[in-house]
Amino acid sequence: MLRKARIAVFVSGSGTNLQALIDSDEIKSGELCLVVSNKADAYALKRAEAAGIRGEVLPSKGTEFDRRALELLESNNIDIVVLAGFLRVLGKEFVDRYENRVINIHPALIPSFCGKGMYGLKVHEAVLERGVRITGATVHYVNEAADGGEIILQRAVEVLPDDTPLTLQRRVMEEAEWKLLPLATELVCKMYLEDK
Ligand code: GAR
Repeated sequence: MLRKARIAVFVSGSGTNLQALIDSDEIKSGELCLVVSNKADAYALKRAEAAGIRGEVLPSKGTEFDRRALELLESNNIDIVVLAGFLRVLGKEFVDRYENRVINIHPALIPSFCGKGMYGLKVHEAVLERGVRITGATVHYVNEAADGGEIILQRAVEVLPDDTPLTLQRRVMEEAEWKLLPLATELVCKMYLEDK
């Protein structure tokens, strides 16, 4: 292979999905080059540092994040952006500039339990509240609508009778998220290189 797609991962928190990308041997068409956080204390930054990946913190306020992130992506020649527990909505200019090159992992089966305000543990709380028996995770392209872009991969996970939001979150991560995100990242990098 002549070249690999250069990947930036956007994070806001603990970064277990970032760790899954770092540890995966699925990603052959891309390389992790940059980790961008909107939170200075995100543990994900420590994971990046331990893996020898450049980490950057950008201010979360207003349109400042998007503008500075675009500059960073361009100066680092980034091809693909992976949102891995990134709890901020990207604006139109950003999404248009990276059309079909930004993907996100969501901890439910879209179009259920998604959209504005549905993130992290809140998703699993809502799943348990509603009493559904099957949940899961989705990787999708990012467009302007919250969790509204085209679906790339999904995987179902069973909800067990004595689940708490935390036990369910953990099972969704282990059985779905940490497997799906590397697979989808490879898929998107491969398609990007083939189209070039
Ligand atoms: C993950 O469960 C991810 O799917 C979710 O936040 C968690 C971050 O965990 N993302 C969303 O809810 C986006 N709507 P991590 O920092 O350990 O990867």
